[in-house]
Amino acid sequence: MSAAAPRPRVGILISGRGSNMVSLAEAARADGFPAEVALVLSNVPGAGGLDRAEALGIATATVDHRAFKGDREAFERAMDEVLRLNQIDLVLLAGFMRIMTPWFVRRWEGRMINIHPSLLPLFKGTHTHRQALEAGVTEHGCSVHYVVPELDAGPVIKQAKVPVLPGDDEDTLAARVLVQEHLLYPLALAEVASGRAALVDGTIVRR
Ligand code: GRF
Repeated sequence: MSAAAPRPRVGILISGRGSNMVSLAEAARADGFPAEVALVLSNVPGAGGLDRAEALGIATATVDHRAFKGDREAFERAMDEVLRLNQIDLVLLAGFMRIMTPWFVRRWEGRMINIHPSLLPLFKGTHTHRQALEAGVTEHGCSVHYVVPELDAGPVIKQAKVPVLPGDDEDTLAARVLVQEHLLYPLALAEVASGRAALVDGTIVRR
């Protein structure tokens, strides 16, 4: 009998509270989940998600971008070093509030995914719930996509929709979307980690 193939090691990059990170880590504990959450890396010292990761028994690291005084690539080289030392195979951005340089994106091309709180290609960038309310859409949601050099423009792996309800404000809408984010991201990670979805020549191939 051959040994089971090792599961890809996931590094999750956060800047804040890390609720998506927790949902990923909890999903990955289930028998048969095709990936292991091996590291949580924050660019913000003391980010709430770091304590939550430690409570889950996950290794944590901090690379403070402010120490690099605006040299984004130097900051990313330091992160890359930590990711390689921890033998990370897949990078998941989960509320990571730094824009990546093309150097870092190319280095992790096809192995780095992000969750964005809108139905891409609608409402890229920040304040997506405000953008959705101002646009008057009746449907909103979240997307998991491969990261490419252009912001929030990578091929979408999976989306989840929510209704926009009368009386919604940014907070009520964000909360409704977040529930779906927590369900969607582990499903998308399972597809990528198992090889059921892959990025080939800039498009998603499903097997
Ligand atoms: C989520 O809404 C995510 O989609 C966005 O930032 C938020 C992060 O929340 N990119 P959390 O840190 O995962 O709780």
